[in-house]
Amino acid sequence: MTKYIIRGGQPLYGEVEISGAKNAAVAIIPATLLVDGVCRIENVPQISDVTLILTILKDLGAEIRTVNRTTLDIDCSKVRKQHVAYDLARQIRASYYLVGSLLGRFGEAEVPLPGGCDLGTRPIDQHQKGFAAMGADVQVQNGYIMAKAKSGDLKGAHVYFDVVSVGATMNVMLTASLAKGMTVIENAAKEPHIVDLANFLNSMGANIMGAGTDVIKIRGVERLSGGSYSIIPDQIEAGTYMAAVSAAGGEIRVKNIIPKHLDCITAKLEEMGVEIIEDGDSLIVRRFGSLMKANVKTSPYPGFPTDMQPQIAAVLCLAKGTSILTEGVWDNRYRYADEFRRMGANILVDGKLAVIEGVERLTGAPVSACDLRAGAGMIIAGLAADGITEIDQVYHIERGYEEIVSKLIQLGANIHVETMPEDDWHVSAG
Ligand code: EPZ
Repeated sequence: MTKYIIRGGQPLYGEVEISGAKNAAVAIIPATLLVDGVCRIENVPQISDVTLILTILKDLGAEIRTVNRTTLDIDCSKVRKQHVAYDLARQIRASYYLVGSLLGRFGEAEVPLPGGCDLGTRPIDQHQKGFAAMGADVQVQNGYIMAKAKSGDLKGAHVYFDVVSVGATMNVMLTASLAKGMTVIENAAKEPHIVDLANFLNSMGANIMGAGTDVIKIRGVERLSGGSYSIIPDQIEAGTYMAAVSAAGGEIRVKNIIPKHLDCITAKLEEMGVEIIEDGDSLIVRRFGSLMKANVKTSPYPGFPTDMQPQIAAVLCLAKGTSILTEGVWDNRYRYADEFRRMGANILVDGKLAVIEGVERLTGAPVSACDLRAGAGMIIAGLAADGITEIDQVYHIERGYEEIVSKLIQLGANIHVETMPEDDWHVSAG
């Protein structure tokens, strides 16, 4: 059992380098299944979700070579299996990208229903609708998604999504890249990682137009061949450090980012009294005065990202006045509220709304990271709080943040990792 121990109440100063984007990496790595040849992928984040997806790929027969800390060569030419083993794929949401990739490559895929953070219901009906429109028979049986091209080939199709879905947009792009003819996706998601996947596939020979708008057109090609590609910086990791300095105070430089991807977060923090200066591929983020209340509603890109909702909530807990938070994407993304209350936050949740009455200060407490971004929110609250915060279940955080503890130490935070032997944990957990 591993915990993060934070002695809070100290401002942050210094520089932090942002890693490659998790939600781009976990789609681009399965996308290499569609490529005939070696893909060199740079700026790969070292996080446990990436390790899991690489393990699944290796199990399918991919050859993976580490070139350096953040660069991998992946060759899926010898993959012959379309069946993904249950235990690994169940642990991760992004395993659903194996359906789009294997179906595109072999016309057949058998992939366990995905796992991932518990954010309420997480249906995959839009993915299924996209595969079916391209001529696949799609069924869920014994915990597996079974998809198979009905008449040998998959064909381009018109797909109109009922909801804006990141995963369904990416999955249809994957399958359509090698399908016969043109696929048109309407009401497509526009997140930076959608554009990144399209750029990756295009750089390997695909023909995808319009990624980043609501209509994406994919003209299927005969084959994709190897090449090099560098993953974009992680928008949410950058936003998390911006929120951390906003809550704890101080001044930091957030490096290796695309500032445009952060506009939605920058605008909200500025409204709260945080000073943000763009400088090339960095943002300088400063907070010395008091924080002001703000209302935040999450929505698909370019709206305020749901994956920044717990982190901004931690900042709002310390802002003067009453803020209203509206979750516009997931049914249940406030499971962290009870943990924040242990730290003295005044937060009331009703369905998709949270009303936060800012307090003068938070106080350290033992809390549990109930999911990835909730855990990031708890770190931020802990950095700003007086006294000691102990966060357990940090494996959730390590799914998506590369070296978060050392990056925070570099910014002057008083945080360390404590690992308890299993037996001691059982005694104290009792
Ligand atoms: C991706 O999840 C991300 N995960 C999530 O990040 C992120 O919160 C989410 O997009 C929204 O930005 C990965 O990229 C691996 P969706 P995804 O399909 O693709 C409904 C994180 O913290 N929907 O865009 O699963 C769904 O219920 C994680 O990094 C359907 O109704 O999300 C939700 O309300 C957590 N039917 C909305 O659409 C479907 O078939 C958006 O979901 C699919 C989705």
